[in-house]
Formats: sequence, structure tokens, C-alpha cells
Amino acid sequence: MDLFEYQARDLFAKHGVPVLAGEVIETPEEARGATERVGGRSVVKAQVKTGGRGKAGGVKLADDPADAVAKAEGILGMDIKGHTVHKVMIAEMAPGIASEYYVSFLLDRANRTFLAMASVEGGVEIEEVAANNPEALAKIAVDANEGVTEAKAREIVEAAKFPAEVADQVVDVLQTLWTVFIKEDALLVEVNPLVKTEDGKILALDGKVSLDENADFRQPDHEALEDKAAANPLEAAAKAKNLNYVKLEGEVGIIGNGAGLVMSTLDVVAYAGEKHSGVKPANFLDIGGGASAEVMANGLEIILGDPDVKSVFVNVFGGITACDEVANGIVQALELLQSRGEDVSKPLVVRLDGNNAELGRKILSDANHPLVQRVDTMDGAADKAAELAAAK
Ligand SMILES: Nc1ncnc2c1ncn2[C@@H]1O[C@H](COP(=O)(O)OP(=O)(O)O)[C@@H](O)[C@H]1O
Ligand SMILES: [Mg+2]
Repeated sequence: MDLFEYQARDLFAKHGVPVLAGEVIETPEEARGATERVGGRSVVKAQVKTGGRGKAGGVKLADDPADAVAKAEGILGMDIKGHTVHKVMIAEMAPGIASEYYVSFLLDRANRTFLAMASVEGGVEIEEVAANNPEALAKIAVDANEGVTEAKAREIVEAAKFPAEVADQVVDVLQTLWTVFIKEDALLVEVNPLVKTEDGKILALDGKVSLDENADFRQPDHEALEDKAAANPLEAAAKAKNLNYVKLEGEVGIIGNGAGLVMSTLDVVAYAGEKHSGVKPANFLDIGGGASAEVMANGLEIILGDPDVKSVFVNVFGGITACDEVANGIVQALELLQSRGEDVSKPLVVRLDGNNAELGRKILSDANHPLVQRVDTMDGAADKAAELAAAK
């Protein structure tokens, strides 16, 4: 889960990374009081989960409270790379900036370790530095067991060639930032820019944090950081039922077991859809290994509740959960939904293969549900589901 800048700022403050005061607001008039509270001048900053806000006109200096109201008025509602600005942060203005640096920690999946990155050429988009001037971006592996000790922090500072007069402060910030990374179970913490002010202080002016949702069980505070307003209502409902669901723009609802199978199902349906008025998959839904009737019912309920869905393709490859259990699950799920009073009226195409496929197919045939059609090949089933969606 990616955080807004103001949320990253709050986490930094909580762990002691030096930041400036900031308040998040949603209407222009609130900028007045907020600017007074942060010192009479402010920086009005669009809160959207994308970089390059400055370049896009989403970060503006305000000389006084009235100016901040005008700047907030201009920024609220702006579109930045497809993100509408609903909130702005009124940040304390940094006293004269002398230099802008870059520091981050992230999970380096390819090398199975953590990685520190740092550069004295911060401020601009770091991708540009990495592409045009790669030697200006130091990359140092961080061992998970050792973490960022003072020695490790010095190594990073030296590799990135931070000037001597800020070295101690940057070492400190790196260690504190590492605490944020570990204590908050983050996948990324990034500061860009980390600035040196004219009076020689190091401050984090912009933060990006991505939290590991797999750690939510031990991070009860993180739920409050979710942007519930932005969540798609179907995705939110799926999440509440612990389903692995992503809404897409299409007409064929998809249920499968195993992320790989579901992804290839999306491809096959998109391909089949080309022959059937261009229909597309409506979602990703992986019901995982143990597809009980209840999980199947929950998945079907979400998909049937999607007004875009015209047909459903259930694609299951029996493994540990055998096809007969899945077939029973589908039959029971439809009964369960009907008994819950759900509107069950969209056609389902079911393909079962793998462990106990024959038995599973027989269960479906015997049940003879009016909405369910059995097609035993993946391509054939995708074609049928696309055809049914196009016909509606
Ligand atoms: N509180 C602040 N005080 C003074 N200048 C700021 C402040 N916050 C940001 N800036 C300036 O605006 C630039 C862009 O802001 P930043 O928060 O990094 O947004 P983005 O990275 O999305 O463009 C920074 O590089 C910095 O020069
Ligand atoms: Mg930035």
C-alpha cells in the first residue's frame, strides 16, 4: 500500500526523521489557518500518489495565508497524471534550500536483500539520474540481519559522496529512516528531496512510503492509512472477504485457482473476446488452493454483483483441492447465493481439469443447473464465455 506524502511525513515524524510541520486540508479556505499555524508562509502541496507533482504544478509556494488559499484553490481538483487532487498539504516552508539530495531503502527482490540508494543529485526525478548519470546514484546492499548500523550508514554516505559538513546528520537520518522501514514493515521509504538548508540543517521535504500489506496483522495502525475513498467498492468488498480480487474494465467475470492460472485466463479471454465484439475480462480473482463452497460463493457474489459482468468463466485446475470438491462448491455456492436472495441470473461457463476432473464434471452435469455450462478446454470455455458476454 502506497501512502500519501502527508502520511509518510507523519510516520517520519513519529520515528524522529527531521521533517517540517504540515497539515492536510480538503477545502481552499482551510489553507488560511493552516498557513498561519505553520509560520505565515507555506508550501501548498497536492496529495496524490504519484511523483513529479512539482513539475506538474502541484507544489506552490505561498507568501501569506491569503495566497495559500488562492494556491490551494488552484491545486484542489487538478489532475496530475490521471490522479485527481482531493487533498493538499500545507507545509511549513523550508528556510533557504542550499542542496537537494536523495535517499531511500527498499526491498531488492532480484538480489534477495534490502537496498540503500543515495545521491547528492536529488530533487529531480531520480529515474533521470539513474538513466543519465548512473554513477551519481550509490547503491549499497543492506543485510537484513545487520540492518543500518552507523558503519553501514557511513558507507552509504561515502559511496554517495555527501559533503563532509552534512555527513554526521545524514548518517543519523539514514539510521532513523531505517527504523521507519523496519518498524513499519515498509517495502520502500524514500526521501526526495532530503535538503540541506542554508543554515546547515538536514530535513526530509518529501517522502514516499510503501507498506507491506502482508504485515497488516502485526500493524494494527496501518488500517487507518488506507485510502478508503479511492478504493473501488467491489475491491473493498472483496478485501473484506479476504479475496484476491482486482477490478478490470470488461464484461467476462473470471474466477480461477492460482494466480498464474488466473492471469493466463485473462489472456485467453481477452484473445477470445476479439472475435466477440471485443469483450474483455472484468476482473482478476484467485480463490486459491482450498476453494470451499463458501469461498466460491463469496467470489461469485462479488463477480455477480459487478454490473459490468455479463457472463462468468470459472476456470479451475484441480490440485490439492480436487475437481469434485470444486464442482460441489460451485453447485452449493449457487444455492447459497439464491438462498441469500442474491440475483443469480448471469450465465456461468465452467472448465474443470486436473485432479478428479471426470468426477467433477459429472457432478456439474448431474446438477444440471440452468445457468451453468460445462466446457472442458480452457480455450473453448473462454470462447463460450466471451460469446455469452457479447450476446447480452
Ligand atoms: N516544505 C517545503 N519548503 C520549501 N520547498 C519545498 C518544500 N516542499 C517541497 N519543496 C520544493 O518543491 C520541490 C518539489 O516538491 P516535492 O515534495 O519533492 O514533490 P514532487 O517530488 O512530487 O515533485 C522540491 O524539490 C523542493 O525544492
Ligand atoms: Mg519529491
